[in-house]
Amino acid sequence: VKRILIVGATSAIAEATAREFAARGDALFLVARNAAALQAIADDLRLRGASVLGTAVFEARELEAFPALIDAAVLCLGGLDQALIAHGTLSDQGACEASVELLREEFMTNALSVMALSLLLARHFTAQDHGVIAAISSVAGERGRQSNYLYGASKAAVSTFLSGLRQQLYPKGVWVVTIKPGFVATPMTAAFKKGVLWATPAHVARDIVRAMDRGTPVLYTPWFWRPIMALVRSVPERIFRRMGG
Ligand SMILES: NC(=O)c1ccc[n+]([C@@H]2O[C@H](COP(=O)([O-])OP(=O)(O)OC[C@H]3O[C@@H](n4cnc5c(N)ncnc54)[C@H](OP(=O)(O)O)[C@@H]3O)[C@@H](O)[C@H]2O)c1
Repeated sequence: VKRILIVGATSAIAEATAREFAARGDALFLVARNAAALQAIADDLRLRGASVLGTAVFEARELEAFPALIDAAVLCLGGLDQALIAHGTLSDQGACEASVELLREEFMTNALSVMALSLLLARHFTAQDHGVIAAISSVAGERGRQSNYLYGASKAAVSTFLSGLRQQLYPKGVWVVTIKPGFVATPMTAAFKKGVLWATPAHVARDIVRAMDRGTPVLYTPWFWRPIMALVRSVPERIFRRMGG
């Protein structure tokens, strides 16, 4: 039985991942913004086999509240073995270009909050000489595209941050897992037309659980995004700047 904290637990990807954990009887502490949705998911996960289940409500932009959240999870579960950070927003690129306030809020939600949580978890896991910090970044962080480069830049910040943290914590027995999904059919992408590259939250969830158990440094999910992104990264800027999307 593992003791696992899930932040952003009402996310479709996080919920699917929590179902995998519940099925093997893990103890879960769920944190999310929407109290009613959180309660419904918690009730469902109890029925699916989660051994212990605690919840707390949070707002990702209120960084000062994070230490108390982690303390609450540790207290409820009697310790912590793994954490998954899943919350995020697909920022409205045009609106962010027009409003520096929105730009700041979106970067706070998608990048700063993940960094702040990771540092707190790092402190806790380092003190006990083990632990897994997993956070959902995105393939969108690998190359800025005109349609979503603020979102991409936030995810790039998260991926680079986690890379450094992974090096720092490796000798201390703490694993850091960067999760890079491609296109996943969730409420976040409800407005998009789906095609062959699209995956279900359930598929991505199985990959996430395996990566967290093995301490995989960087997970591309589904797997085919690794070669696709290698190709995308290889296009020279001289050519990339002329391409749409
Ligand atoms: N779907 C994709 O194609 C895709 C691809 C790559 C990466 N990702 C990443 O995967 C993660 C999960 O997304 P998803 O696809 O599962 O989408 P989702 O179902 O829309 O989940 C997004 C979650 O983030 C929460 N959230 C947003 N802003 C928040 C805030 N200020 N404070 C607290 N919680 C907040 C939402 O809470 P509410 O329910 O209260 O709004 C929701 O639980 C995100 O980090 C996303 O960037 C998704």
